Amino acid sequence: MVEANKRKCKSFNVLLTCIGRRVSLLNAFQNAAKALKLKCRFFGTDITPLSSALQLCDERFVVKAVDHQGYINQLLKIVRENSIKLLVPTVDLDLKDLAGNQEKFEKLGCIVLVSSQSVIDICQDKRQTFKFLKKNNFNTPETIAARKILEQKRIKFPLFLKPWDGYASRGNEIVKNRKELEFYAKKIPNCIAQEYVIGDEYTCDCFVDFAGDVRCVVPRRRIEVRSGEVSKGEVVKNMSIMNKAAELVKALKAGPGVITVQLIFTRDKQIKFIEINPRFGGGVPLAIKAGADFPKWILSQLTGKTVRIQFDKFKNDLTMLRYDAEVWK
Ligand SMILES: Nc1ncnc2c1ncn2[C@@H]1O[C@H](COP(=O)(O)OP(=O)(O)O)[C@@H](O)[C@H]1O
Ligand SMILES: [Mg+2]
Repeated sequence: MVEANKRKCKSFNVLLTCIGRRVSLLNAFQNAAKALKLKCRFFGTDITPLSSALQLCDERFVVKAVDHQGYINQLLKIVRENSIKLLVPTVDLDLKDLAGNQEKFEKLGCIVLVSSQSVIDICQDKRQTFKFLKKNNFNTPETIAARKILEQKRIKFPLFLKPWDGYASRGNEIVKNRKELEFYAKKIPNCIAQEYVIGDEYTCDCFVDFAGDVRCVVPRRRIEVRSGEVSKGEVVKNMSIMNKAAELVKALKAGPGVITVQLIFTRDKQIKFIEINPRFGGGVPLAIKAGADFPKWILSQLTGKTVRIQFDKFKNDLTMLRYDAEVWK
């Protein structure tokens, strides 16, 4: 784990990559810096100048796409030339490359808020996630390659189909019979089939400090989703969910930063984990507003302060109702 406490300083620059529409997260970091009386400047990158959050950064960088071979080098250049002390990824896209190049950033005095490469591998392949969860005795829907399940004579329907490398609910289908299964197994690329789980869906924001300890877990019940991202959500302080999610993050050795764990809580109170995203989730502003001030905790730790964090000290029942807003360029 990164020894953040060695780097005591009162002013530093922070870079958020693929910043896109993360206005709320950026604001939370800016507010945290203000509250801590830190002179932070916030930098952002995106592949287009037409990113809403980019407009609100102190410095903006339009960069090449994450799959360009020079992606990491251009970030290293920005870090070097602007003395960036903290790099915060905001999407899945560059996690793997950032994890693989962490040492290069550290040599420049920059801490990357990313998990290890092996953790990213487990999270970004839903077959690996299933294997990890099973091996560590966490409850999760049975998962099998769609073409494999077609070989079976008896199949229990409905099934939930999705790509093992999917994101934002793309290519998801519920199939009720063999005919539908055959059709979608061909149509959906990298298709896996899962037991279809019915229940309330939760996303947990799990905070892991720079020593690797899970310090706080905020479960958010998903009420409504728009384009794969939560648009209405509610904080539900359910200790059994919080403890299980913390156990999972610990077993995975994920962090530092916020790890987003998704699960379905069934009517008979089973906690079935379905996905782990080792980064800030899209709905994290709700947890922050509820009092789990992750940006403040991260910035405090970076300045060498000991932070008092209580595992369950956040506002219960807080509801977030999102709407569209505008920024001007
Ligand atoms: N096995 C399942 N049973 C029921 N619903 C599921 C299942 N797996 C996923 N879902 C639903 O599909 C959404 C997207 O699936 P997820 O595994 O989170 O992939 P991603 O977010 O990467 O697209 C989930 O938020 C959930 O609503
Ligand atoms: Mg998901």
